[in-house]
Amino acid sequence: MTVKIIAIVAMDESRVIGIAGGLPWKLPEDMKRFAALTSGHTVVMGRKTYESLPEKFRPLPKRLNVVFTRKVESFPVCSSVEAWTNPEDFFKACRGASIALPSNLVWVIGGAEIYAASMPFWDELYLTRVSSKHNGDAYFPPFEEDFEQVEVEQRVGYSFERFVRKNRTVRP
Ligand SMILES: NC(=O)c1ccc[n+]([C@@H]2O[C@H](COP(=O)([O-])OP(=O)(O)OC[C@H]3O[C@@H](n4cnc5c(N)ncnc54)[C@H](OP(=O)(O)O)[C@@H]3O)[C@@H](O)[C@H]2O)c1
Repeated sequence: MTVKIIAIVAMDESRVIGIAGGLPWKLPEDMKRFAALTSGHTVVMGRKTYESLPEKFRPLPKRLNVVFTRKVESFPVCSSVEAWTNPEDFFKACRGASIALPSNLVWVIGGAEIYAASMPFWDELYLTRVSSKHNGDAYFPPFEEDFEQVEVEQRVGYSFERFVRKNRTVRP
């Protein structure tokens, strides 16, 4: 099974992705698309993003939830949630097929720290580009040099865009 690692994010014109531990916007269509794309697969996130999920969606249902935290011993694991301390170890284990996953798709769902720490491992990026500017305190890191756009679907106020890594041979 060849594992594909895909980041998914919604970012505004100033690269803002979050504010005060939450999202700066409400985009129901984007949430629906997120659920449809990631259900049945693995979702990978930072501890702060996990804690920002509404209680009734935590852990995200029908998905293996992998949470990165440096305080793994105090993290409350439950069924369908795994806590890992080292992103590199996790992604290498995925590539090496040394852990059991529900499918070959591993979705990196944020937040800012986890996007930055995992970018070298991404094969693809699903970006919702929000065409406005918002106040924020969490930002998406620059990815444009290493990824090329292969799809754009324009909507009112945002676009769904897909990027693939330019040079797959340098991927770890
Ligand atoms: N727009 C979007 O698509 C989108 C998507 C997701 C999230 N967000 C937003 O992004 C914001 C959260 O982002 P954030 O950067 O503050 O937090 P985050 O990336 O969700 O989580 C940060 C936490 O992850 C753990 N962590 C980070 N790097 C690690 C590493 N190298 N090894 C092990 N653990 C590591 C640490 O947990 P411990 O402190 O437990 O050690 C750290 O405090 C929120 O506003 C959220 O709503 C937006």
